Amino acid sequence: MRPAGLDDARLAALAREHGTPLYVYDAPTIRARFAAVSGFDVVRYAQKANPNLTLLALLRNLGASIDAVSAGEIERALAAGFPPERIVFTADLFDRAVLERLARLPIHVNVGSRDMLAQFAAVQPGAEVTLRVNPGFGHGHHHKVTTGGSDSKHGIWHDELAAALDDARAVGLVVVGLHVHVGSGASFERLVGAGEFLVASARQVGDTLRTLSAGGGLPVRYRESDEAFPIERYVRAWREHARAIEAYTRRPVELELEPGRWLVAESGVLVTEVRATKRQGEREFVMVDAGFHNLIRPTMYGSYHEIRALGKRGGERPVLVAGPLCESSDVFTQGPGGTLEPIELPPLSPGDLLAIHDVGAYGASMASNYNSQPLAAEVLVDGGHSYVIRRRQRFDELFAAERDLR
Ligand code: LLP
Repeated sequence: MRPAGLDDARLAALAREHGTPLYVYDAPTIRARFAAVSGFDVVRYAQKANPNLTLLALLRNLGASIDAVSAGEIERALAAGFPPERIVFTADLFDRAVLERLARLPIHVNVGSRDMLAQFAAVQPGAEVTLRVNPGFGHGHHHKVTTGGSDSKHGIWHDELAAALDDARAVGLVVVGLHVHVGSGASFERLVGAGEFLVASARQVGDTLRTLSAGGGLPVRYRESDEAFPIERYVRAWREHARAIEAYTRRPVELELEPGRWLVAESGVLVTEVRATKRQGEREFVMVDAGFHNLIRPTMYGSYHEIRALGKRGGERPVLVAGPLCESSDVFTQGPGGTLEPIELPPLSPGDLLAIHDVGAYGASMASNYNSQPLAAEVLVDGGHSYVIRRRQRFDELFAAERDLR
């Protein structure tokens, strides 16, 4: 998608002002995506998609709650002004840093492994908990992001739910919620099917059940040819799931969604500068200053991101777009398994700018300092205003925590 607020001239001006590589996010796009899921009682942002403090605060102001999967994400959520009551910790294990925080803060936990129950009861005796169920099937845009089924480490295996409920009772915890998340970028059918599974499981929990979480996983359109996700139909399907449970618990069930990608992916553009072009046999390479240290999705999953030349059109020809890293996989135009997939771009030369689209989710949040490349700057655009929400990392910060023992 091309956010209306981020036209070519605007992106080029921001790149001139702040340098490249530069992440630019469009605030109105995030607001619109949030509005589209407001049929859920609680929208809990999965901050792993993009944990920038300003984006967290923007979503908090819209009324979002927040998911955290590490002690660091708990700290971020608190720093962005979420009260502990609006944070849920979701994981398949507690590390010691997390348990130490849970002992001090009234944060709800979504438990994905039975061993966590006794550990949690030791720090929050008598607490309420949610159980994450692995329904025995999953689906995602890539097998690496499929989180259901026996090849996945996530959730409590469906036929151990009764045993987990016994474990919880034995240590004095009260199970008030069920959660499922079968994968990221999953199909409508699989996502709704996971809900049907939860409805069937809910009977085992009994009348303490108060919340039903649909997890996240909603796909977005990376290609224009991708079908739009039928979000209204999705909300209705989960409402029906909740009603089916309410019919026998005879009390209201609060319906939660836990989206990451859905809320932020399409808001983000990575602007990068062409620094060289070259021909390697039959192949044409356009070499840019962003690499997989900024955006690893193409290298890791063969993910497609639309790439456009800013302010240039005509004479398109097939090229590969590659970054500066000393590794051949540093190519943005590749499919699953690393097969090179050229895209059509106009003739380019050093100084031209490219926009890489739909990078608001799992772009900056998965960035690294590989090759001692600093983290890129990030800018939020809101109508006529733009704000630096992360300055470019300085070179001295790259090794500030290290010691030179000479
Ligand atoms: N809830 C749970 C328990 C999750 O594990 C995840 C994602 C989400 C919610 C949010 O999923 P979303 O709505 O964003 O699909 N790095 C990969 C995605 C990994 C997702 C991990 N868990 C990518 O770039 O596609």
